[in-house]
Amino acid sequence: MERKDFGYIIEGTMSYLHILFYGSHIVRFVYSDQKEVPPSTMAMIHAPKKAVGSPEHYTLKTEKLAVNVDRKTLSVRISDQYDHTLSEDLGIAFSEKRIEKKRLWEIGIYGNGEKYTWLNQLGVKTSNYNSDVLRQATIHNPMVEQMHTAIPFYIGVAPGQAYGIYLDNSYRTSFDFAVSNREKISFQAEGGFLDYYFIYGPTVAEVIKNYSLLTGTPPMPRKKFLGYHQSRYSYKTEDELLAVAENLIKHKIPCDVLYIDIAYMDAYKVFTISEKRYKNFKATLQKLKSMGFAVVVIVNPGVKVEEGYHVYEEGRQKGYFVTKPGGDIYQGEVWPKPAVFPDFLRSEVRQWWGGLHRELLAQGVDAIWNDMNEPADFTQENATLPEDTVHRTDDGKEVSHAEVHNIYGLLQTRATREALEMIEPNKRAFVLTRAAFAGTQRYAALWTGDNASVWEHMECSIPMVTNLGLSGLAFTGADVGGYQGDCSGELLVRWTQLGAFLPYFRNHSEIGTVRQEPWEFNDQVLDITREYIRLRYYLLTYWYNLMRESTLTGAPVVRPLFYHHQDDLNTYNINDQFLFGEGVMVCPVLRPGVNHRMVYLPLGLWHDYWTGETHVGGRYITREAPLDILPLYIKAGTILPHDRLISAPGYEQTGGAIDMHCYAGDNGFYRLYIDDGLTNNYLQGEYSEMELFLEDDPVQPLVKEKITKKGFPIPEISYKIHLKDCR
Ligand code: GLC
Repeated sequence: MERKDFGYIIEGTMSYLHILFYGSHIVRFVYSDQKEVPPSTMAMIHAPKKAVGSPEHYTLKTEKLAVNVDRKTLSVRISDQYDHTLSEDLGIAFSEKRIEKKRLWEIGIYGNGEKYTWLNQLGVKTSNYNSDVLRQATIHNPMVEQMHTAIPFYIGVAPGQAYGIYLDNSYRTSFDFAVSNREKISFQAEGGFLDYYFIYGPTVAEVIKNYSLLTGTPPMPRKKFLGYHQSRYSYKTEDELLAVAENLIKHKIPCDVLYIDIAYMDAYKVFTISEKRYKNFKATLQKLKSMGFAVVVIVNPGVKVEEGYHVYEEGRQKGYFVTKPGGDIYQGEVWPKPAVFPDFLRSEVRQWWGGLHRELLAQGVDAIWNDMNEPADFTQENATLPEDTVHRTDDGKEVSHAEVHNIYGLLQTRATREALEMIEPNKRAFVLTRAAFAGTQRYAALWTGDNASVWEHMECSIPMVTNLGLSGLAFTGADVGGYQGDCSGELLVRWTQLGAFLPYFRNHSEIGTVRQEPWEFNDQVLDITREYIRLRYYLLTYWYNLMRESTLTGAPVVRPLFYHHQDDLNTYNINDQFLFGEGVMVCPVLRPGVNHRMVYLPLGLWHDYWTGETHVGGRYITREAPLDILPLYIKAGTILPHDRLISAPGYEQTGGAIDMHCYAGDNGFYRLYIDDGLTNNYLQGEYSEMELFLEDDPVQPLVKEKITKKGFPIPEISYKIHLKDCR
């Protein structure tokens, strides 16, 4: 074993093993036939720490971990400071780039990006290769392993113990969580290096925090984008779009963001505007802006092949498109029919592409939606570019699509975000993406792609979104009401109730399906959806503060129950409830015609949000849930801010007064963060922070305030105390 600047190298018979440390909780293992450590993928933003200490008998130690290496096989065993085994290799197949680890004490395996699975993936085999799912299966279903995103990161959890494994490899990768062999967990890459990070907890929150050190956290969003979004493929003309805006206001549906899908372009040519359908594009956008709406337009990577079309011509002349082996431009097909694909691997191409957004923003576009960026290609059986097509690095090195595929979407969102930040430096950018890789959280929010208006897809959006949150992506959601197929009024109500409590909240539907804006059904549907969208807005300060936490630590905004109750095994397989922050338990109804449901409450006291009744946890209860009720429980000790007024088009613009709802219980604490919700001035200290402490008292619970930072006006705050009410 040899000590290098940043770690150790061990020469085995088949390979070298590089071991690098990223602080006391994170160790990187790289198997390679080279003496140099291979470069990381674009996901990584963290550098290793300088190697210290000296190894004893092939054991390396940090404050928290000990790594023992078998010098012949190069297998490792990792243990904590009490010598409990946390990870143990059973075998490494160097040529197949596969590692098999012993299944130890893991009771749950979670994370792994966007998957159509239950929350707990123990017993699941999956592979990671960004896919335009709709073109490979008629509909999302549990047999589809490869979804729109690839995030090769999973977390093994048991009471008192948790670790993460992040495989930093952008080729197609696969995981087998004790399926082929119940005693083994294995992972494999189709190319590149076996380069993985072991990330220690022992809590799930610490694993995610450490993973976020490596791959980044989401930036602060504009507060507006935490509101309700309305979309459809497509609002075909500007009149149709304006009518939607007017209907939202007329029906008093709070909504901040409207979408223009592909119909606004001339023949689906990116960075063009159809003279026929959107002939007053700029004026329409200005009008919507004056009404208070932000408008997002779709920008896909596929560039139409057409002589004289400026994007195609310029990209072709400058050699900006992905080529076939040999150098000819590769031509596939997306919405504009024949299409070519920008090679976002090169910074020059990203800058060129980014610059093309300037005109859209000048017209009044507020934010960008990147779709079809797996990238989708209708000519191929697996609906994406052939693996042997060629990308080029900044220094001209050729790289196969097989290696770039999973980061293609990441690269497009990077180009987009950097452009928006360059063009409007003091406005927080918003980019939405379908395809993603580890690290995408730094650039974009994500929606889970083409789901359908079926109850099962609403149900699966809970494990999907919570597992995405455990994979570093906090700002995600599914199309509310479902994209494909026809939504019913009842489904829309139940889905809006759920969507109001998932981070990215957009109603979107496919061309040719029934309209599913809230007013398209009947008065009851309209009234209930409105109530829940309003509830979303009343809780906007709470949302915003959770996003702030995510920006600082990577913590997800919505969390599976075990995130805060890791010692409670009952929580490991709960798919149909989740926590919003630490204190709000959300229990949606996920089946038609159902008017009550079981609710699991972990140990402690829980206040029923609607009735005020207090329940003792550590058990299941049954709750009535007629169509207008989404059961919600607030943990005793929670301080939950409610904005007094709704700030959305057609509503009063608020002065920001907040009612702090304090739910009697022990150890009540809340940190309130306030800034302008729009600019980057907070980076210059223009924000305020205040700590609130709730003291438990059966008659008169007391709240104490402490301002810890004053750099922005603090709104008027009043307190509403909810006493314990154990009937
Ligand atoms: C893709 C997207 C969908 C969009 C459609 C048309 O299917 O996933 O959201 O509406 O393309 O642009």
